[in-house]
Amino acid sequence: MNLDKAKENILKAGFLDIKTSDKIDFVKEIIKLKKEKNAVILAHYYQEPAIQDIADFVGDSLQLSYKAAEVDADLIVFAGVHFMAETAKILNPQKKVVLPDLNAGCSLADSCPVEALQALKDKHPDHIVITYVNTSAEVKAISDLCCTSSNAKKIVDSVPLDQPIIFAPDKNLGAWIQKETGRKMLLWDGACVVHEAFSIDKLISTHKSYPNAKIIAHPESEDHILKTAEYIGSTSGLINYAKNNPAKEFIVATEAGILHEMQKEVPDKKLIPAPAVEDNSCACSECPYMKMNNMEKLYLCMKYELPEINVSEEIQKKALIPIQRMLDISSRK
Ligand code: 13P
Ligand code: SF4
Repeated sequence: MNLDKAKENILKAGFLDIKTSDKIDFVKEIIKLKKEKNAVILAHYYQEPAIQDIADFVGDSLQLSYKAAEVDADLIVFAGVHFMAETAKILNPQKKVVLPDLNAGCSLADSCPVEALQALKDKHPDHIVITYVNTSAEVKAISDLCCTSSNAKKIVDSVPLDQPIIFAPDKNLGAWIQKETGRKMLLWDGACVVHEAFSIDKLISTHKSYPNAKIIAHPESEDHILKTAEYIGSTSGLINYAKNNPAKEFIVATEAGILHEMQKEVPDKKLIPAPAVEDNSCACSECPYMKMNNMEKLYLCMKYELPEINVSEEIQKKALIPIQRMLDISSRK
């Protein structure tokens, strides 16, 4: 396939929609392409196991942003969702950033269109805006500060007490941060489809089956789930907790992809995914966007260096400011 054809194909589908031969050894070819193209693969913990295993670095949103800011590669291959790849591009405007499937979005980012956030800002001109990184580049460009789940408390605490705050788009993370900091904020009404899918009734009955298990949860989960949790934290926070806590069983309330890395860290412990309301094949909650990426799309996107993430220079410059502020505040002792 020539490049023009490949681009046309991506415009239609958001990814390279060609059937690759079954004979292709994706692992071997991807390793070869990494060397040939001086590429680095950054992957989120929610990616499928094969992608996590071949990545150069696997991490949470904050770790991936730091990594994206320091990589020395010509091609950044982002195995995650669109806002993560966009953040990498904002931090590396001169580098080529590709994402295996452009349709890999995020319900939180979708819940916060830039025009609507601008309208709220206009209504509250005395407020500063803190946005979770799960937003578009345009939204970041009108934000004062960004945060991730692992530094949200620190970022909010860095703002003077008399300064009112708009916090967007995750109302669950926002409500948890309000409790943690004792700070009242104006919360956007957005949520993550994956973390809102947990069933409290099923969680309680799972806990009855494993009475010694500790419940640990991501702060994007709803309050009634968080209330049951022994520990609340980002994906890397959850992995560290399972590693450092002496308990032998954990019920994990976040996207099930995390269990791959967590189990590697605690091979002798029992990890139980928190159950979702709907009965589904994994009896857990999976992110449909994260799972749009697969090894075939990863291979094709490295081979053709498509689909590429592009951000206009004007938006890149504006969006970099709150991201850089976040990274600076976050690295303070
Ligand atoms: P983390 O920053 O904890 O990795 O979370 C990212 C995310 O999208 C959670 O749904
Ligand atoms: Fe977005 Fe939720 Fe998927 Fe994370 S898990 S990418 S917040 S939809």
